[in-house]
Amino acid sequence: NKRVKIKELLTWTPEGQQVTVMGWVRTFRNNQFVALNDGSTNTNLQVVLPLNSFDDALLRRVTTSASLKVTGTLVPSQGKGQQQELQATELEILGDSDAEKYPLQLKNRPSLEFLREKAHLRFRTNTFGSVFRVRHALAFAIHKFFHERGFLYLHTPVITASDAEGAGEMFRVTTLPFDGAPRNEDGSINFKEDFFGRATNLTVSGQLEGELGATAFGEIYTFGPTFRAENSNTTRHLAEFWMIEPEMAFCDLEDNMNLAEDFIKYIIGFALENNREDIEFLDSRLKEEEKSLPADKRSEMGLIEKLDFVVNNKFERITYTEAIEILLQSPAYKKKKFQYEVKWGIDMQSEHERYLVEKHFKKPVIVTNYPKDIKAFYMRLNDDGKTVDAMDILAPGIGEIVGGSQREERLDKLESRMAEMHIPTEELWWYLDTRRFGTVPHAGFGLGFERMVQFVTGMGNIRDVIAFPRTPKSAEF
Ligand code: 4AD
Ligand code: MG
Repeated sequence: NKRVKIKELLTWTPEGQQVTVMGWVRTFRNNQFVALNDGSTNTNLQVVLPLNSFDDALLRRVTTSASLKVTGTLVPSQGKGQQQELQATELEILGDSDAEKYPLQLKNRPSLEFLREKAHLRFRTNTFGSVFRVRHALAFAIHKFFHERGFLYLHTPVITASDAEGAGEMFRVTTLPFDGAPRNEDGSINFKEDFFGRATNLTVSGQLEGELGATAFGEIYTFGPTFRAENSNTTRHLAEFWMIEPEMAFCDLEDNMNLAEDFIKYIIGFALENNREDIEFLDSRLKEEEKSLPADKRSEMGLIEKLDFVVNNKFERITYTEAIEILLQSPAYKKKKFQYEVKWGIDMQSEHERYLVEKHFKKPVIVTNYPKDIKAFYMRLNDDGKTVDAMDILAPGIGEIVGGSQREERLDKLESRMAEMHIPTEELWWYLDTRRFGTVPHAGFGLGFERMVQFVTGMGNIRDVIAFPRTPKSAEF
């Protein structure tokens, strides 16, 4: 018999089909009923082991997380809670699991903190099953969205010599001290010339290489891992995260904002349509979790309600100057509720961003025209000489989810900005060539993939939406 996945089987009308399933035991009741899960869905298949059909020695091996192969007959279920069940005729234990030693005892719902410590097995829980199926769907939807719009997927390098954000938050890449490693006079390794004859690091963003692609292909996107050596232990920061960076020639900030908004709505819509069961599960999980909170700390909307709202409503668009004005007028400011200073020129802290989206507008907000001094060197300078054509998208519960801009396409302006910010023009000669040979107005943005997954799954901690989180305190495997 060919193996059938449980997700598929659940769509069948049970009428005595002979099928084979394989999966892991979630629970085993009354020496008769197995809840079997194969990872394709959170809904377990009820497998019935008819009394006296299998010997006791075999039944004793049906333990939590043991892996089974079961062949049987699919019939309408007598029990509550499921449409169908599998009456087993053949049972094979593929792998035993010592229930005493199994690290995840599913009797009490284990906490997310506990599961982070058992990260190697946490995919075997309903919560992580749903989170990672949603993550997969979002990744697929991202490629689908850009492919449908004629964008080319450009693979930008992970090892690079440039600091795309000019923020110095890079992980150095170096060779082991092999015989050919370049040495200083005292015999120590010369890191400045260590690799490719120069210092290299893990990429913080594929944008600069993306601009090379956009100024040839017109429209490209990247989707890959990026690295930031910032020592932030927050629920929104990882040292290794995935970023999606579209870059478009013949495009200004307005087009850029429109694309970003369409894009976000599209991928959320895709997940809502294709992963309904998982999102419903996560929605109920959140409601359960919030029961222990005081009423005023609970979310006003459920997860699905919130996602539907985002898909169906226009994002608010304001300038940075307007944002600061709103903050200065806010009751929170007047009651000295903000920890950090508010005045024109500040880099808004997450408390400010969250005030704007969660308290003031209660929807995603696109903030534009930031002061040039808090933004990267490549952003296009506005006529006021003080602000740049930047846009950040702020999301409820998350804060900044997208950062982007129109790029400075005028060579003289770009060079003088780089000089002011001490960005070495000689190292970025290849980047500047795009402005020397057929420069065009162009723009792009970066979406932090894990923050997006957090938004769609409602997970509070970014460590719970990436399979193997890399943070200053974790990298066991
Ligand atoms: O705002 P950022 O630094 O922008 C760039 O890297 C640009 N080169 C993007 C572009 O215009 N092509 O990062 C973009 C997004 C942020 O808005 C955030 O969602 C996410 O990347 N991000 C992080 N996510 C998790 N952990 C971190 N340490 C992150 N740093 C940024
Ligand atoms: Mg940013």
